[in-house]
Amino acid sequence: MTPHNHAKPGDYAPAVLLPGDPLRASWIAETFFETPRQVNGVRNCLGFTGTWKGKPVSVQASGMGQPSLAIYVHELINVYGVQSLIRVGTCGGLNAKVKVRDLILAQGAATDSAIVKGRFGPYNFAPIADFGLLRAAAGLAEARRLRWHAGNMLSSDIFYHANGFAGYDTLPGHGVLGVEMEAAVLYTLAARFGVRALAICTMTDCLITHDEISAEDRQSSLTDMVELALDVAVEA
Ligand code: HPA
Repeated sequence: MTPHNHAKPGDYAPAVLLPGDPLRASWIAETFFETPRQVNGVRNCLGFTGTWKGKPVSVQASGMGQPSLAIYVHELINVYGVQSLIRVGTCGGLNAKVKVRDLILAQGAATDSAIVKGRFGPYNFAPIADFGLLRAAAGLAEARRLRWHAGNMLSSDIFYHANGFAGYDTLPGHGVLGVEMEAAVLYTLAARFGVRALAICTMTDCLITHDEISAEDRQSSLTDMVELALDVAVEA
């Protein structure tokens, strides 16, 4: 038990999916898990454990932004012994080759956040995905003929950037594919504590073209992403 999580030791499976939204956590548990049971409800930041294809798996909402995710992830690793953490989220598009609905497997995550930069003094740490999880996700995405990209993500602390696309400065010109708000600290904490992490994001709004995902496409692409993440969680 922690101030943010009332689950008991052993309540989480070794692999946990991390959506930002608590209602997406309950949707994942109800839609995909065999025998889901709620393990956390503190602040309505819901967590569930069940099985997928007969193997144990959990889902825990992370909330929005790196400070919120860092609290849940720190405790999942250090209090509950979680070994693999897979973020399932949405992101904005920063590169014309990424179309709405495409998946981005965040191979690395740049950030403007002091939560990462502050740890490293003079160094620019490069937060990276676990190679085994990344390789498994890429292989499964390819086999399913999903549209996917692997590359750099921006994990920003700012959603409403004062200067819109221009606010992201030189990052798109250096191959950064999308912007979300959590992956960099997830990768940093996984590195710190010797566990595995991957962020998979559906691109829902392109900051260049202003294309946005439709309601029907949002549901079907979230389904593709969650099934992919669950397979990675129990197989890799
Ligand atoms: N910015 C940050 N996070 C996001 C965005 C965005 O434009 N779209 C979806 N998640």
